Amino acid sequence: MAEIDVVLGDITEQRVDAIVNAANESLLGGGGVDGAIHRAAGPGLAEAGAAIAPCAPGDAKATPAFDLAPVRHVIHTVGPVWAGGGHGEADTLASCYRRALLVADELGADSIAFPAIATGVYGFPTAQAARIAVATVRATPTNATRITFVAFDEDTHAALTAALDG
Ligand code: APR
Repeated sequence: MAEIDVVLGDITEQRVDAIVNAANESLLGGGGVDGAIHRAAGPGLAEAGAAIAPCAPGDAKATPAFDLAPVRHVIHTVGPVWAGGGHGEADTLASCYRRALLVADELGADSIAFPAIATGVYGFPTAQAARIAVATVRATPTNATRITFVAFDEDTHAALTAALDG
């Protein structure tokens, strides 16, 4: 059973085997955490992403982590754009966490860091997203021994902490 925790910080500074990126379908980079990861990994990340794009919402695809070493892998996943909650957004978000863990297992990653997928530009309500994230990670078999949720702000940290304690 993996140890699951939440930290307040920058996912590009986490010392883990794999970090998960909240990407868009092109895998070419963008703003938010996607932009931060691409800036830290260098131009090779966009080249590797383009070679395996597109990534459908709810799916997850891995590339090397390039300049993010000692991180070995970036697992790109595409969250749902929030459209009020009646368009399968919750299921798509759960799929992001589930598929990312399955890809991490295929890679043999022992430690994984997740951002709060879809809660920024894509507008998914933070508290609901946190509950989905924690429930899905807890319900997905994994060989990883350490899973870290990385909150970039206090509200997200509080939401993830509440979900973990709930
Ligand atoms: N480390 C950890 N978390 C971060 C970082 C960082 N360096 N930068 C931003 N975040 C947080 C945001 O504060 C938010 O809580 O990541 C969470 C997800 O927000 P976004 O990055 O906006 O991702 P998302 O809502 O999934 O939207 C994805 O935005 O950047 C574009 O190309 C991306 O089109 C895609 C869309």
